Amino acid sequence: MAEDFKVTPWEVSGEVDYEMLIEKFGTKHVDNALLKRMSKYGELHPLLRRGIVYSHRDMDWILDRYDAGEKFYLYTGRGPSGHTHMGHLMPWIFTKYLQDTFKVPLYFQLTDDEKFLFNDKLSLSDTKSMAYENMLDVIALGFDPTSTKILIDTDCVKTLYPIALKTAKKITFSTARAVFGFENSTNIGSIFYTSMQAAPAFMVSEIEGKNVPCLIPCGIDQDPHFRVARDIAPQLGYYKPALLHNKMFPGLQGTDKMSSSQPNSTIYTTDTPKQVRKKIMSAFTGGAVTVEEQRKNGGKPEICSVFKYKHFLFEENDEALEELMRKCRNGEILCGECKKSLADSMVKFIEIHQEKREAAKDKVQDYLYCSD
Ligand code: TRP
Repeated sequence: MAEDFKVTPWEVSGEVDYEMLIEKFGTKHVDNALLKRMSKYGELHPLLRRGIVYSHRDMDWILDRYDAGEKFYLYTGRGPSGHTHMGHLMPWIFTKYLQDTFKVPLYFQLTDDEKFLFNDKLSLSDTKSMAYENMLDVIALGFDPTSTKILIDTDCVKTLYPIALKTAKKITFSTARAVFGFENSTNIGSIFYTSMQAAPAFMVSEIEGKNVPCLIPCGIDQDPHFRVARDIAPQLGYYKPALLHNKMFPGLQGTDKMSSSQPNSTIYTTDTPKQVRKKIMSAFTGGAVTVEEQRKNGGKPEICSVFKYKHFLFEENDEALEELMRKCRNGEILCGECKKSLADSMVKFIEIHQEKREAAKDKVQDYLYCSD
């Protein structure tokens, strides 16, 4: 089969074959046995139940250590290249569930260095101010400030740089080139960057002077960074970080990933309710052109972006989702009605989120980990 899709930490395009990624990256399925085990710690999150968080590395090991009384910490992050959209929020919402379920600390990295290095158009002050904007969205989700710390790379060099150096020394250029596809024209900051993303995965062990397990919930597109980090971890005497991977949040125009390069396909947390409604009302559904046809033939939930949104985040009740799928296939419910119901839930969500985001402006200092 032709590989007509691309998944790298910087680009996701085409129709992603998530099963093929598991094979290609060498990760494991989040299978029923693992789900059953995870359900012992608290009710499974819908993203797990629905196979959206679908792949992992060493999650069973994390639970073994946890059961043996060795608590792990969570680490995730965001490259501040623009405003936060729903696709970014999804893994953070999942991270919050993990924190609440396991009562563990979270370190959240904002890579202002990464987005500066990889994007010709962005200055360091652009990415730094976006880091601040994105941080408000993280705080708005309600992470516990006593156990959640946010690291902005360029403010945390004293902590991160020594670990990044140790990491960088073990990664050869040929590995970085093979994994990330670097070329002769790639700037050397980009080549070094993976060691900055690896650093928080080793940071707590470094600080505590003993190995502490680390679990990274992230999009499957970020796996290459951590594959490299895991490979070299034993050489530095660290545990390999464990991972839980999610599928990419779909765009509203039928693409596989919500992306800032397609603003109409993307719902930002800063959008007004009017903008949210407008984008959803013009979303791709794959439905028939006329009402008669739709009533007769039904819709196609498997390709409909509105249905996908409900499946990913906006209909937590499994039975209600099943019922919607049935009604759609039977032509009992039309796209307009379905879009309106999604727009209502999304607007409700965004309005509450924006209030919390405003309130977050006074809480930033409670979350910042370091400023050297
Ligand atoms: N590289 C990620 C991005 O572009 C940001 C990031 C840094 C990250 N550390 C992470 C993502 C850890 C997930 C987990 O968004």
